[in-house]
Amino acid sequence: MSERVRNAAFASKIMSAEDAAAQIRPGDRVGMSGFTGAGYPKVVPGALAKRIKAAHDAGQEFTIDLFTGASTAPELDGDLAAVDGIGFRTPYQSDPIMRAKINEGTIDYSDIHLSHLAQRVWEGVFDTLDVAVVEVTEVLPDGQVVPASSVGNNKSWLDLADKVILEVNAWQSQELLGMHDIYYGTALPPNRRPVMINRPQDRIGQTTYNVDPAKVIAVVETDAPDRNSEFKAPDEASIAIANHLLDFLVHQVERGRLPKSLLPLQSGVGNVANAVLIGLVDSPFEHLTSYTEVIQDGMVDLIESGKLDFASATAFSLSPKMAEEMNRRAAYFREKIMLRPQEISNHPEVIRRLGLVACNGMIEADIYGNVNSTHVSGTRVMNGIGGSGDFARNAFVSAFVTPSTAKNGAISCIVPFASHIDHTEHDTAMIITEQGLADIRGLSPRKRAAVIIDKCAHPDYKEPLREYVKHAEAINAGRMHTPHDLAQAFSWHLRLAETGTMQPS
Ligand code: COA
Repeated sequence: MSERVRNAAFASKIMSAEDAAAQIRPGDRVGMSGFTGAGYPKVVPGALAKRIKAAHDAGQEFTIDLFTGASTAPELDGDLAAVDGIGFRTPYQSDPIMRAKINEGTIDYSDIHLSHLAQRVWEGVFDTLDVAVVEVTEVLPDGQVVPASSVGNNKSWLDLADKVILEVNAWQSQELLGMHDIYYGTALPPNRRPVMINRPQDRIGQTTYNVDPAKVIAVVETDAPDRNSEFKAPDEASIAIANHLLDFLVHQVERGRLPKSLLPLQSGVGNVANAVLIGLVDSPFEHLTSYTEVIQDGMVDLIESGKLDFASATAFSLSPKMAEEMNRRAAYFREKIMLRPQEISNHPEVIRRLGLVACNGMIEADIYGNVNSTHVSGTRVMNGIGGSGDFARNAFVSAFVTPSTAKNGAISCIVPFASHIDHTEHDTAMIITEQGLADIRGLSPRKRAAVIIDKCAHPDYKEPLREYVKHAEAINAGRMHTPHDLAQAFSWHLRLAETGTMQPS
């Protein structure tokens, strides 16, 4: 029997990726594993893409609807998008080919809070799920299935799908067994119960997935690394942003608003968020914990430095070097890290109870604190909202971070009116750029505008922003709670489209 498929019922279904992919039909709704380049199926999507291309070459229609945990990798999102194999995609992506097809309108994309998708699928909003394609580490002799480097929505896909295809990846460390906390207690209202996590390290579930062998139509053996990307070394702007946040946290501890070990940290995706974590290594805080979505390199550095005692997440999002290290020392790290389903890692009830310090990247914020995390110039989607809404609204203290400008200064990331709003002024507590930190909690719109412009805008854009506010305040004799000139509100984005820069001529 195969070394990793140690149960006869599962072993009898071992086959090639091509034979497995042949069982996915046009129009199927397919739930695949995968979360930021970790734990996605490595070979079945590619085999499916080849099949779809052959069907298209023969003049046949063939697309699937694709559900995942979050973004995946070129071998999944990229290959399937390249052959126009996807009709519908949810809940998050970051693949350049997929992004282009979504923006040109050939793929329907539903960008939703990551904690919401499992519930929506259980509810039946998307009808039934036909197939689950899930990467796992091994199948134990008793038929229990060991998760891999991401959990995402896998538990729900395995439960809900009519048919299951497992990819058993020998690259994943067998010592991951024990790192996961798979909770089987979720239910739809009115039968929903409290999720009893009171500390990030609280275990509420089991270490393995339950998989009905009668539903398993294929088991494919692989040996391929997760495809994670390198992080950029923290640049000057990221270091400055990290320092502003650290100064703020020190101040909050001094004022007695946060404990010395802070509250559990949540750090979003991207380079800036990773840099903030790296900055914490040299901070005065000890015995930190984390209740977050992804474990990036910076989080592992914090564990290694002895600063961070425990981290809970749904997936790894590591550089290739750090992923190899994680595999090599999984037995050590499983005492410090727990991976859970994303509906639990991002659960609003738990986030509110634990009271997190959250930090997420953004594309732009406006002078009143509305935040755009997803759409460049209000129209072209970048990645998606991901878990930023789950965390930002429910955290104890929440920051949105960005360099003050993009594209060599041609774009101001502080604008009169956000061109797309993912997080409203009611959810935003702090905005941080390399210029400074605006704490807008408890401020009226006019005061918010003054603080955001003063603290966060780039010097080149401060005066134009102040002029906009002055101009808006003069309209209608200033009788406005939130001053705006609607005719001018998007003039900066329009100027960018026309001239290539937001800079006034
Ligand atoms: N207008 C146009 N482009 C902008 C922009 C703006 N206002 N702000 C940033 N960009 C571009 C950058 O130039 C860069 O482009 P490039 O890839 O061509 O170099 C790209 O967006 C990424 O910007 P960067 O400054 O490197 O930030 P990042 O890696 O920290 O990512 C987000 C920022 C917003 C894209 C990212 O945080 C994201 O996808 N967030 C939404 C999901 C989320 O928050 N998840 C976390 C929950 S756990």
